[in-house]
Amino acid sequence: MKLYGILGFPAKHSLSPVMHNAAFKALGIDARYDVFEIPKNELASFIKRVKEEPIYGLSVTAPYKGDVMKHLDKIDEDARKIGAVNTVVNRDGVLIGYNTDFIGATEALKETVGPLKNKKIVIVGAGGASKAIVYGLQKEGAKVSVFNRTKNRDGVDGDLKDMLKTDGNILIQATSVLFSVSPEFIKKFDVVMDIVYKPLITPLLKTAQDLGKKIITGDKMLLYQGIAAFKLWTEKEAPIEVMWKAIST
Ligand code: ATR
Repeated sequence: MKLYGILGFPAKHSLSPVMHNAAFKALGIDARYDVFEIPKNELASFIKRVKEEPIYGLSVTAPYKGDVMKHLDKIDEDARKIGAVNTVVNRDGVLIGYNTDFIGATEALKETVGPLKNKKIVIVGAGGASKAIVYGLQKEGAKVSVFNRTKNRDGVDGDLKDMLKTDGNILIQATSVLFSVSPEFIKKFDVVMDIVYKPLITPLLKTAQDLGKKIITGDKMLLYQGIAAFKLWTEKEAPIEVMWKAIST
C-alpha cells in the first residue's frame, strides 16, 4: 500500500485525508492518506523519512509551505515564482515541489464566474495563500489589487483603509483569520470568495449572502487544489464528484 499525507502543524483538522482517501477508494488505488503533524525541529528528519520509507506524496500546509522548499530536490516553475509549495511528489526518491493552490483558486472562481480576463479583483491578505491566488489570477488576465493589515509587505497596494476606497467585480478574503468588512464595502462587488473553510459560511460570506451576492466557500479551493495534487501523484484523472462529496457532507 502506497502512503501519502498532509504535512503541517497543526494538521489534524484538515479535510484533505477524507478527500484523498475517498478518491483512492473510488479508483481502486491501493493507497492511504495520513496526517503528519510534525513540529518544526523534526521537519528535516521527516523529509528524510519521506524519501526512505517511502512516502509517495505530500500536501503541505501552514507553517511549512515556504520552509519545506529547501529540503526538496526540485521545485516546479510555478511554485518557485509563487515562493511556496503545497504539494510534493516523490518520484523514485527525488522530491519535487509544486504549487496547486493557484489552480485551486482560479478553478473555484471560474466555476462560478466564468473567464477571469479583465475582471477587477480585490484581495485581502498578503501571506502565502494570497501570493498563490494573485499568481493564478494574473495568469488568467485578471486585474488584481492586494490590501493587507500591514502595508509594507511585498506586492501590497495598500492597507485595509485604502481598500475601502476601491471597488471591483470580485472580493477575495485570503487571510488566515475570519476577516470581514462592512456591508457598504461588500455592496460594491458581484462575487465574494473566502479561502477559510471552517466555518463554511464565514462572517464575510454571511454578510455577502444577505446582500444577495454570489458567494464561493473555502471548500471549493480545497477541492480544486486537491484535484490538481491527486493528478500529480497518480497521473490519473481525479474523481471530482467523489472528492466533493467527501468534503461537503
Ligand atoms: P497564509 O500562508 O495562510 O497566507 P501567512 O503567510 O501567515 O499565512 O499570512 C497571513 C495573512 O493573514 C497575512 O496577510 C496577515 O496580515 P499581516 O501581513 O498584517 O500579518 C493576515 N492576518 C493575520 N491575522 C490577521 C488579522 N487579525 N487581521 C487582518 N489580517 C490578518
